[in-house]
Amino acid sequence: MVDVLSVVTDPLDPVSEGWAALVQEDRVHRSLYTEDRVFAEEMVKVFGQTWVYLAHESQLPEPNSFVTGKLGLRPIIITRDRKGTLHAVFNRCAHRAATVCREETGVAKSFQCPYHGWTFRNTGELVGAPWPGGYGDTFNKDELGLGKVTRVASYRGFIFGTLNESAPSLEDFLGQAKPWLDYWIDRAPKGEVIVRAGAHRMVYRGNWKLAYDNGGDGYHPSFSHRSLLEMASRLGDSKDMSYFGKTPDDGAMKIYSLGNGHSVIDQRPNFDGPGSIWANQRPQPGREHFEELIRARYPEDSDRLLDVSAGAQINLSIFPNLLIIGNQIQVIEPLSVDKTQLVWNATSIGGVPDEVNTMRMRTQEDFPAFGEPDDQANFEEVQRGLAVTEVEWILMNRGLNVDGWQTLDANGVVVSAVTDEIHMRSYFEEWLRLMEWTNR
Ligand code: FES
Ligand SMILES: [Fe+2]
Repeated sequence: MVDVLSVVTDPLDPVSEGWAALVQEDRVHRSLYTEDRVFAEEMVKVFGQTWVYLAHESQLPEPNSFVTGKLGLRPIIITRDRKGTLHAVFNRCAHRAATVCREETGVAKSFQCPYHGWTFRNTGELVGAPWPGGYGDTFNKDELGLGKVTRVASYRGFIFGTLNESAPSLEDFLGQAKPWLDYWIDRAPKGEVIVRAGAHRMVYRGNWKLAYDNGGDGYHPSFSHRSLLEMASRLGDSKDMSYFGKTPDDGAMKIYSLGNGHSVIDQRPNFDGPGSIWANQRPQPGREHFEELIRARYPEDSDRLLDVSAGAQINLSIFPNLLIIGNQIQVIEPLSVDKTQLVWNATSIGGVPDEVNTMRMRTQEDFPAFGEPDDQANFEEVQRGLAVTEVEWILMNRGLNVDGWQTLDANGVVVSAVTDEIHMRSYFEEWLRLMEWTNR
């Protein structure tokens, strides 16, 4: 317990103390979740400097298609030009700042600002302003295009952008997360992943990092998701996720700290052999009929088709805003220091019978509907708890210096027991590196 009076009269100040005082080996300071000043700096130094997930290529499949999104707080438009090349521009008119595009997605060669009618190409250049005679000789169209996200790159359909000219390549940034993303993508026979229209959007009253803290948290499921697990266990005790409740640290399921703030929980060792992921799913509407049909029509391939109808059984977190959970792509959108929107995108895959994608949709109704509300309740309750100024620290010390937990795999990745809070310690290391960046 800290000395209450000293805290009240002399709170740690994020600016004067320096960031390193607030991120220690085993704990982080509450102000990182509560202070507007910290949030404002994060939007510049974290979301303005590292690679940020923007959209999936399947959301803008044709030449001249676009999808709107966010880079931190900045509204952006991700576009394909007429040749199919990807761009990302700020959705901010060069005239008086109105957003120029108000649609979620569509096809457009240009965007006309609804306020005074300035028109921009989908690559950002200003085409023209109405009644140009009202501007003097110094009016230079070439200088008045939409601002650009300076680097945009795609890894197998996942589009990222950064404002940092000297950031490493996207592939280097993904680093050890790449093979996990590959596994997830390659569950589709030809690697074809399609993000479905109509995302599930949920706003919670809490800091954006609470969702990232939870992405690699193998400690909470048996407590936080008890109602879901109890419901499933009525149908037998080996259902998906029940293994989180049975001494999970002794099992083969592990967490991997992948560097650059990324991590993954691999639940696959809880399943044994082809067809086992499917066999252990919770109830889904139409499940029995679907299984009969797949087994009758594709006898050679039925276990594989049934397994890809269920979730991927990995939780891959790519810092700072991309969480791959089961078959869903979840995007963290910070709104303010204590308000965040989570966007859940369902996916289907190419190269499989239609029925498989129908059943995948049933699978993707399961956790977002039955499990995510538990997580969001936790995020809001943590934020409420953080109003206690007298208790300053959030702990992330589970697994630290515990004998036998952490080992290095052949790729030099740290592997540990699934409830290790190593995912938080490792992403805060990256967070600190970015926040201490002063060269801007
Ligand atoms: S703000 Fe866009 S044209 Fe005026
Ligand atoms: Fe959870």
